[in-house]
Amino acid sequence: MTDKTVLVTGACGEIGQALVQELSKRGGHRVVTADIAPLPDTIKDLVAEHVQGDLVYKIKTFYDYDFDIIFHLAASLSSKAEVATEEAHRINVEGTMQLLMLAAYRSEKYKKPVKFLFPSSIAAYGMASLEVKESAGCVKEDEYNTPHTMYGCNKLYCEKLGMYYSRYYGQRHLDPNPPVMLDFRALRFPGLISAFTLPSGGTSDYGPEILHAAAQGKPYSCFVREDTKISFMAMPDAIKSLLMLTDVPRENLSHVVYNVAAFALTAGQFRDRALKAFPGADIRFEPNPRRQGIVDSWPEDVNDSLARNDWSWKPDYNVDAFFDQYFLPEIRKRYGK
Ligand code: SER
Repeated sequence: MTDKTVLVTGACGEIGQALVQELSKRGGHRVVTADIAPLPDTIKDLVAEHVQGDLVYKIKTFYDYDFDIIFHLAASLSSKAEVATEEAHRINVEGTMQLLMLAAYRSEKYKKPVKFLFPSSIAAYGMASLEVKESAGCVKEDEYNTPHTMYGCNKLYCEKLGMYYSRYYGQRHLDPNPPVMLDFRALRFPGLISAFTLPSGGTSDYGPEILHAAAQGKPYSCFVREDTKISFMAMPDAIKSLLMLTDVPRENLSHVVYNVAAFALTAGQFRDRALKAFPGADIRFEPNPRRQGIVDSWPEDVNDSLARNDWSWKPDYNVDAFFDQYFLPEIRKRYGK
């Protein structure tokens, strides 16, 4: 069987590095990467080709490739996007649209649907107040779709753009012989935590930052209140869900956008877990009103029963397994504690 040609944009990011490593472990893929930065050593040797630069300006380059699957991970995350809003819109929306157009063109011209995997986010939700957040509990995909952030607006809109290009583009679906359309699939990720990389520019970053700081014996000032609660997931589960969704036959998918969840924790519970593992940890809470407001607008947890029913999704790591079987063993190796 010939290798599948895969494009991973945002390959230098946390999800990108973990995804490229997993694709290489599984084999059967020719991986082309794209990022504004040069590839880090962790994945440099696992990639057939790297296109470095701004996706929006480099888009023509990608018309020369015969991609079977596109993992479009490049994005400006939520905290950064609130500071540089127009830039975020350009990266998050314009970049996505350019790639969707490419995938739509290739699917139609070569009569083969290009799979387009898009990581959306809990930022696509917007809870009007803390009371609403608390009473809503676990939210479903089509509830509270009123994001408060540029990043959340971008993600929600790109979900819709993906649906548009995969179903209704140019109203081609009304033709007597409709052309082949691209195959768009999106996941709404919670906050992700890797033992190997740290996020930057996001707002769920306090979770991994508390843990990495504690493991290194560094003091940490947390930018949200102790009682702040959202859902999180181990990076290996994020990659597992992305690849599971990639592999599901189209006919098994009743939806285009799926929540995935693993465990919901408060910032105070992160501190407690960090203290238990690293008793000297020095973690303080000094909330930043703007970043606090962003996390307060995200749901406490998400309902992922659609993914569980349609493609048998189930995380490998609940909260205890996350700490005991993944994060702590890996981080102790990494920082030698
Ligand atoms: N983790 C992302 C952020 O904090 C949300 O998807 O921006």
